[in-house]
Amino acid sequence: MRSFSEVLDLRLKKLDETFQRRSLKSRSGIDFSSNDYLGFSQDPVLQERVLRRLRGQPVGASGARLLRGHSELFETVEQNLARFSGQETALILPSGYQANLALLSGVLTAEDWVFSDQFNHASLIDGIRLSRARRVIYPHRDGVALRRALEESHKQPGLKLIITESLFGMDGSKAPLAELVDLAEEYSALLMVDEAHATGLWGDGALGGGIVQSMGLSKRVFATTHTGGKALGTGGAWIAGSAELKDYLVNFSRPFIFSTAPVPSLVISLDEALQFWSEVGNDRAKALFSKADQMQARLVDLEIPCRDPSPIVPIILGENQMALQVAERIQNCGFDVRAIRPPTVPEGTARLRISIHWDHSIEVIEALSNQVLAAVREVCTTREEKKT
Ligand SMILES: Cc1ncc(COP(=O)(O)O)c(C=O)c1O
Repeated sequence: MRSFSEVLDLRLKKLDETFQRRSLKSRSGIDFSSNDYLGFSQDPVLQERVLRRLRGQPVGASGARLLRGHSELFETVEQNLARFSGQETALILPSGYQANLALLSGVLTAEDWVFSDQFNHASLIDGIRLSRARRVIYPHRDGVALRRALEESHKQPGLKLIITESLFGMDGSKAPLAELVDLAEEYSALLMVDEAHATGLWGDGALGGGIVQSMGLSKRVFATTHTGGKALGTGGAWIAGSAELKDYLVNFSRPFIFSTAPVPSLVISLDEALQFWSEVGNDRAKALFSKADQMQARLVDLEIPCRDPSPIVPIILGENQMALQVAERIQNCGFDVRAIRPPTVPEGTARLRISIHWDHSIEVIEALSNQVLAAVREVCTTREEKKT
């Protein structure tokens, strides 16, 4: 019989065979990889405000929220987060992953149904798995297929929940939210939207709650989840929805109930990020979208196929090894661009995921675009030569 260590080693070697083995790599090069779209994580003004407010605060929450972990700080910040996201209440969780687990495993049971977009994030998939609800995976953004699935299960008992990201994190595409809301209402289903990548980038002008809010759909959506670790530059996450939903989760959501409350420094950072957003968020988001347009135009000029303009620009290359080689070539020229491989994206769609930031200059966008083209050409030529 193989030892535990041999089994682990064998499994890791299997990843090598398909170029799927990962290792931790420190940051270097110009950042075209992080989700710090608005530059909040390193902003000295925000840093200073957080530091000032942390003085005198406990370093830990000291218990679960239902025990000693709750405090006035949570009350206040959750009210601020709820307002920001255009919902009645908010519930803070330590991360977006945990927020999705908390929401889905909290509200769904094995009697219920979920309809989940094919490209949904792993935290949504894992939340669905944990809930044991019956699931239908519909093709990416395909309202026709979703309608068919809703029609087929219409007479079945149980809650029906449609689940989608608003801005898909690995693809940069947007969900057809207006169509999804209509379908949900037509089939007495609910819609849950993960706004992880849209929070702080879209909103109603004064608030940055995401695409649902920007489309005026907040009241027609069951719940949204939001992360603090992307455009808001901090960390943590929250579920936004009705007072009834919050009350329900506090009573039924195991990832919320059986975990120590997030550290006060996280809650304070989130709150300060919201305040900072109200001062600079709109202008930075505008600058970001203009940079994303420039990147798109440059790629079109270079005849590199790409999707709708978005701060997330995927360059789909297909094979894992090719994506790694192209990314390495670009990294060697001083740009931090990473290869994204399965299982993060579907098999055969390994890609570069370029993330545009509000303060990237036109020159640096141009230089990166040229590097992408040069790297793709070089890697393709070398591979062709090896074949012949
Ligand atoms: C769509 C989506 N939801 C949830 C998460 C998880 O958020 P967190 O990193 O805060 O755990 C991510 C993270 O990348 C994400 O892309």
